[in-house]
Amino acid sequence: VKVVRTIRALREMNLPDVGFVPTMGALHEGHLSLMRRARELTGSVVVSIFVNPTQFGPREDFSAYPRDEEKDLDLAREIGVDVVFAPTSEEMYGPTSTWVEVEGLSDIWEGASRPGHFRGVATVVSKLFNIVKPGKAFFGLKDFQQCVVIRRMVEDLKMDVELHFEPTVREHDGLAMSSRNVYLSPEERRAAPTLCAALNDAATVLQSAVSEASLVEDVLGKSRQALVFRGFDVDYFELVDARTLEVVRALSVDAWLIAAARLGRTRLIDNRAVFDNSFF
Ligand code: PAF
Repeated sequence: VKVVRTIRALREMNLPDVGFVPTMGALHEGHLSLMRRARELTGSVVVSIFVNPTQFGPREDFSAYPRDEEKDLDLAREIGVDVVFAPTSEEMYGPTSTWVEVEGLSDIWEGASRPGHFRGVATVVSKLFNIVKPGKAFFGLKDFQQCVVIRRMVEDLKMDVELHFEPTVREHDGLAMSSRNVYLSPEERRAAPTLCAALNDAATVLQSAVSEASLVEDVLGKSRQALVFRGFDVDYFELVDARTLEVVRALSVDAWLIAAARLGRTRLIDNRAVFDNSFF
């Protein structure tokens, strides 16, 4: 695997048929599955490792975010990644006054708890697309709202890239893989799979339900209660339309369950479609 740190060096490589996996490092099986998919579908696989400062709030974990470049490079090598692009913040930003903001979708759910987060994500992903020029780009559905925001950005700005959203990779007990899971204490780690279980239980009830607003409300309320009982501080547990992220009470193929809850100092997010045949 070749490590490239400058935009110029990457451009000079003129790679053909690029499959791109943007990451912030601390690679886990979720990232590796995206890289394998890119390896399958494209001629040259480029992975970026860049802990993007602009998507972290002032009280978030930017400086503490897990970083282990040597280990990441070993994993990328094993998968057969061609190039790891690992620029400095200076290289990516320098003095900058241009930002990409996907209005509306960026201000709700994760965006409400993390103001400015999606502006940082949309801006860095645009920059990376301009630098890497991928034909295909791969994102994990674990960060569901991020997928929705990026898809809208690509549509709105007429970007010439094919997006691939891949299923969430989970631990044996259902916990969605995340670089932040390392923050969980052993006790929190034991409670953490309840988030995924609550989503699955809610989906099962909703699938068999007659579409009735009061019933949906009831299912969501019970799910929230189950999480609180297990020690979670629930931020949201909602049924939304997967295109607009607006709350819905009617069940359609676009109905999606999204959740965010805190265990101690760790904020966990997870999501799932209510129906298997939904559009993603
Ligand atoms: O999902 C992530 O790791 C980041 O948000 C991304 C897409 C690499 C942008 O910094």
